[in-house]
Amino acid sequence: MDLSTDFQSWAKSIQQRTEQALDKMLPATSIAPNKLHEAMRYATLGGGKRVRALLAHAAGEFCGANANIIDQSAIAVELIHAYSLVHDDMPCMDDDDLRRGKPSCHKQYDEATALLVGDALQSLAFQILSAANLHKDSQHQLKMINLLAVASGSRGMAGGQAIDLASVGETLSQTELEFMHIHKTGALIRVAALLGGYSGNNFDGSRIALIDHYAQAIGLAFQVVDDILDAEADTATLGKTAGKDANRNKPTYVTILGLVRAKDLAQELYESAIEPLKAHDNEALRLVQLAQFITQRGF
Ligand code: IPE
Ligand code: IPE
Ligand code: MG
Ligand code: MG
Ligand code: MG
Repeated sequence: MDLSTDFQSWAKSIQQRTEQALDKMLPATSIAPNKLHEAMRYATLGGGKRVRALLAHAAGEFCGANANIIDQSAIAVELIHAYSLVHDDMPCMDDDDLRRGKPSCHKQYDEATALLVGDALQSLAFQILSAANLHKDSQHQLKMINLLAVASGSRGMAGGQAIDLASVGETLSQTELEFMHIHKTGALIRVAALLGGYSGNNFDGSRIALIDHYAQAIGLAFQVVDDILDAEADTATLGKTAGKDANRNKPTYVTILGLVRAKDLAQELYESAIEPLKAHDNEALRLVQLAQFITQRGF
């Protein structure tokens, strides 16, 4: 992968401002209940690629949004994502001891705390998105909150996780696997980009439609790549246990297509995502670079 230093420094600056915004919004450990707040901060801060925040900012820039406004959507989605990871690692789900290079939340604390961390992170996300003056048009803000709710719930991420758990040991068709991935991972990726776009003033139906097309393709590609890395990368690089999909008998793109065709699919999804953006040249540069980063990371 040869992404320009320009992209690297842009991504670094978004990652830093996301970290700062999260740090500011998460209750301090000195506030009661201290242990819950400490665990919420443990699960959220100091790790993660912040891909969803990067997507919100790239799409927001495409729609002329102010970065301070985009931050609110970016951290709302990152909070939902962090909650999904805390629960995903619990013994009743993937039973994973390592996350972002450190013990998973339930290992560092305990299962009841991890459960509550997820609950509280989810509520905090909606607290942020529903705060007064996020957008001058309150109907518009309501639409943003609704989008995040749908993407997180049983028709989105949580539903995808339910399908994932029900699929252990099963042989899924490619269509069934795609349905699962679109929900468990694609929904939050898609809403990150949409909320970024909706944070701006310069959007009309066609710009949002472009972002939507892009984000759906990239959302699926993201989980295809996650499946490939689970099979190919090592634990130190991933910061989470490698090879666990095979160990837990999960159907993935690697088990269904094999590594070579799974990589071809990631490349096809990348091309499909960026094709309609080409007409927009520099305005869509960050979206294009980010698509490359997401689909080519690790191989
Ligand atoms: C991991 O997501 C879980 C999936 C949805 C595939 P990320 O790879 O974005 O995790 P972090 O945030 O960088 O740790
Ligand atoms: C996780 O998928 C999706 C969500 C957390 C919603 P995975 O189970 O593949 O994620 P990792 O590989 O543990 O990060
Ligand atoms: Mg899982
Ligand atoms: Mg997992
Ligand atoms: Mg995985």
